[in-house]
Amino acid sequence: MQAVDRAFALRQRPPMPNPSRAALIDRLPKAELHLHIEGSLEPELLFALAARNGVAIPFASVEEVRAAYSFSNLQDFLDIYYQGMSVLLTEQDFYDLTWAYLERAHADTVRHVEIFFDPQGHTERGVAFETVLNGIERALKDGEARLGISYRLIMCFLRHLSEEDAFATLDQALPHLERIHGVGLDSSEVGHPPSKFQRVFARARELGLHVTAHAGEEGPPEYVREALDLLHVERIDHGNRALEDPALVHHLARDGMTLTVCPLSNLRLCVIKDIAESPVRRMLELGLKATVNSDDPAYFGGYINANFHAVAEALDLTEAEIVRLAENSFTGSFLPMADQIQHLAEIAEVAGDR
Ligand code: HPA
Ligand code: ZN
Repeated sequence: MQAVDRAFALRQRPPMPNPSRAALIDRLPKAELHLHIEGSLEPELLFALAARNGVAIPFASVEEVRAAYSFSNLQDFLDIYYQGMSVLLTEQDFYDLTWAYLERAHADTVRHVEIFFDPQGHTERGVAFETVLNGIERALKDGEARLGISYRLIMCFLRHLSEEDAFATLDQALPHLERIHGVGLDSSEVGHPPSKFQRVFARARELGLHVTAHAGEEGPPEYVREALDLLHVERIDHGNRALEDPALVHHLARDGMTLTVCPLSNLRLCVIKDIAESPVRRMLELGLKATVNSDDPAYFGGYINANFHAVAEALDLTEAEIVRLAENSFTGSFLPMADQIQHLAEIAEVAGDR
């Protein structure tokens, strides 16, 4: 066989399960930087909370709920996601939701989480901002004490609503600024560019909050540029479509901008047609600081390790690439440098100890 043919045949070989790589993923310390807490609402908890609160839901069984989780785009998912939130009413509901996520994260050797919540999805239903915040934060504090998981909490603005609405939400957060670490931007992307939220993000930065935004999931590369240039974000959530613009890629690589990629989410929302199309490997090759995250794991079929396993197998990632992804999750976090260094040392210990 000619060398070129041999190389082609090797490239065509289906990815092989690799037990040592899989074990590495299961043991590596990691941070999760892109997780919507409301998207961790498993059907079983949805049913339990519906019963506890006397809320009617349009499903007869857990199986029926799971069958409804078939989406052809982001909006399909968001419609079900906002409907699911209707069972979350009391502080205890938000506690139970967050605690269930932290137990799953702990099982996946997650050491640090920076989670999103969507206050407008609750206040517009008459649930007080404080009820949401108190429940989530109490679970996060328990997670820190009992599971050793540190945290940051990021309040997202729903981009299909107005900037005025976002300002009203920021006002509600003002008495609690020491408990909220950053703001993000989520929900329906196309038609709601980052420029729509330029003033409210400027205010959030003045208040000392970290800033991040979903961009380039379904929206064009220009939205990623706007997030950088107008919102001055510290991270890009998703960022897939940035790869369409080489100058933008250069800019992101030069600045060491973290991209919080969500492989199973991309697959389930038809951002990619096959998990092998995940941009994770390509981003690493281009010198971009990619991370792997679960986004809305109850809806997309897997928590962080499932996302790592899916891309590692489909893209045949090397162990060095997997270690790099775990390192990026800490160096891309809002943790102080000293904490990041400690986590990197722990990664080196696990990676070296095989
Ligand atoms: N994209 C935008 N908004 C969201 C998502 C997402 O993946 N998950 C929850 N809200
Ligand atoms: Zn998201």
